Amino acid sequence: MANDAAPPRFAAVGAGRMGRGIAIAFAYAGHRIALIDLRRRSADAWQRLRDEAKAEIEASLSGLAQLGVIDASQIERIAARVEYVNAEAAPQALAAAELVFEGVPETMEAKREAFAQINRDCRDDAILTSTTSSILVTQLAAIVRLPERFLNMHWLNPAYVIPVVELSCHPGTDAAVLARTKALMEQIGKLPVVCGASPGYIVPRLQALVMNEAARMIEEGAATAEEIDKATRYGLGLRFAALGVVEFIDFGGCDILHHASREMSVSLDKGRYTAPAIVGRMVEEGRLGLKSGSGFYDYEAATLPPTGATCSRARSANCGTRACGAHRPTRPCHDRHSPRLRGPVGGAGALRGVRRGKRAARAAAAPVAAQLGRVPRGAAAARRASADHRDGHGRLR
Ligand SMILES: NC(=O)c1ccc[n+]([C@@H]2O[C@H](COP(=O)([O-])OP(=O)(O)OC[C@H]3O[C@@H](n4cnc5c(N)ncnc54)[C@H](O)[C@@H]3O)[C@@H](O)[C@H]2O)c1
Repeated sequence: MANDAAPPRFAAVGAGRMGRGIAIAFAYAGHRIALIDLRRRSADAWQRLRDEAKAEIEASLSGLAQLGVIDASQIERIAARVEYVNAEAAPQALAAAELVFEGVPETMEAKREAFAQINRDCRDDAILTSTTSSILVTQLAAIVRLPERFLNMHWLNPAYVIPVVELSCHPGTDAAVLARTKALMEQIGKLPVVCGASPGYIVPRLQALVMNEAARMIEEGAATAEEIDKATRYGLGLRFAALGVVEFIDFGGCDILHHASREMSVSLDKGRYTAPAIVGRMVEEGRLGLKSGSGFYDYEAATLPPTGATCSRARSANCGTRACGAHRPTRPCHDRHSPRLRGPVGGAGALRGVRRGKRAARAAAAPVAAQLGRVPRGAAAARRASADHRDGHGRLR
């Protein structure tokens, strides 16, 4: 994989938290990567930064070894794939890079400074990305020399652990650039998701609401920090590790979301809890999710997976996981299907499972339902339940 004679094909600009994490992600996948510091520093200051970055990268790899993700004997080899590049050597490293990740501080001034140099030194066919948390791709595209080769790529900290990277394009991003970026990310075992040029990408936008609500609950005395953390780790977290949030709307029922939101918008806060119009429309149309055959996903046209076969993700004979479509064991599986930084645990499988069909998804969802203390209803019952909320003209009561 790594060709030690050639300069690295990948470059992380900014040797801080994100740059180091991105460097580990590539090194772990077998690629050499240049970790570039663009600031002019004294030799001593550069040495200190380099030592600190190297120590942190090795400590992170040791952490992975302790978790059993890698063998301790691999740490040195993986760490050696990161090349530390100072401001003087940056032009050559940038000129060799096929894919550049900008990770300098979150100010327009720092981004402008960094892109001025990237613009100067990068190849015309390089792909340029920024891992900015909050500056829109449309704003940054204006300071990039070849905007068609630019997109935001939001890594989630720690970048070497979290599989998802959020790709956000502006209208001028070349579709081939997006496709190539996705392919390169998949090659290193990441799971790229694409979103528009809107604030907060996907994860931070959802996450901010949850975090603010948690802080508010503490402020109001509704629950302690410890209880909220227990509830999120073993309730919310487990749930959303198994089902995407939209799958979960379909699983619970769009009507449930509609009614719960209406209640909470009265009892808690109108602005925060009023459901968007799409939820009301879907309830009006009877698109309630799994129980009505369609919701955000369509369950009618799907085919069922074969029964009795062993789950394709089962890695060992003692797993015993049956084909579940959603890689959700029909009995407890004690064998950890370690993601080895190769995508989410069960996330994609769950999505496939839900799309495979009503029955399969219902079977897959049964353990979750059991934990929730209820059983998913059949489509007919769901339609009856939905009718209960309607008046004689089919309108919602
Ligand atoms: N830390 C996170 O959790 C996180 C998560 C996702 C995205 N991000 C984004 O990633 C980017 C980097 O964040 P970070 O946490 O790695 O920051 P950081 O402060 O840890 O690292 C930034 C690095 O850039 C260097 N630097 C400072 N000013 C510079 C300049 N003008 N030009 C070039 N280099 C400069 C610093 O010396 C440092 O090495 C930001 O845009 C941030 O919003 C951060």
